[in-house]
Amino acid sequence: MRKKIVAGNWKMNKTLQEGIELARTVNRQVEDNGIVVVLCTPFIHLTEVRNIITKDSLFLGAQNCASETSGAFTGEVSVDMIKSTGADYVIIGHSERRSYYNEDDALLNKKVKLALAAELTPIFCCGEVLAERQAGNHMRVVKTQIEKGLFDLSIDDFSKVVIAYEPVWAIGTGVNATSDQAQEMHKAIRELVAEKYGNLAADNTSILYGGSCKPSNAKELFANPDVDGGLIGGASLNAADFMGIVSAF
Ligand code: 13P
Repeated sequence: MRKKIVAGNWKMNKTLQEGIELARTVNRQVEDNGIVVVLCTPFIHLTEVRNIITKDSLFLGAQNCASETSGAFTGEVSVDMIKSTGADYVIIGHSERRSYYNEDDALLNKKVKLALAAELTPIFCCGEVLAERQAGNHMRVVKTQIEKGLFDLSIDDFSKVVIAYEPVWAIGTGVNATSDQAQEMHKAIRELVAEKYGNLAADNTSILYGGSCKPSNAKELFANPDVDGGLIGGASLNAADFMGIVSAF
């Protein structure tokens, strides 16, 4: 059965000391009740946060990884380095990476494969910008991102991937996708996966929603049959809000 997951993406927020404090509070409050909670911290926080985690349901993730394995790539952090901190997840293809750092489908596909080879779970992000939705192209955009990013994986590798649908117009704007919009897209993604890898694989794929998810809307969003949790930005920076979202299940 697919996992229910709430992952916090801290983005470029929190000093090390602030991150430690937040992680301590979250660790205290997480209940081992089957919902997977992931803290995706900046690289420099990973080791310290790993040492704080004592709960079986609380996991650590990075927000990005290098597209090479090692060597002369100044400023980059490899999948093996991430794994060596005790992290289990890595966000790949966040819209901020796609747009500000020009990460294209081919590069993201490479990163997904490196992550899998290092036994990290990729949280693969997809989502359309506002103009694409307004033009009625959102389904096609997301389909292409998923096909190019993931669909040359073996079924075995694909089964280890988590997908996050994050409509770019909903990220950090306070305007979340409606429950119906989220369900419509998540269902379409699951059908796409079923066509490629079969119904069992589709059934077992966790598809998270991201974009202005908060305690006040999480319950409605997560109540949808194809929404298996959330990838949370702003609201993950505050333990009360983040745990409010976790408890929406
Ligand atoms: P917000 O929750 O701040 O809208 O960000 C969502 C996001 O980008 C998570 O990766």
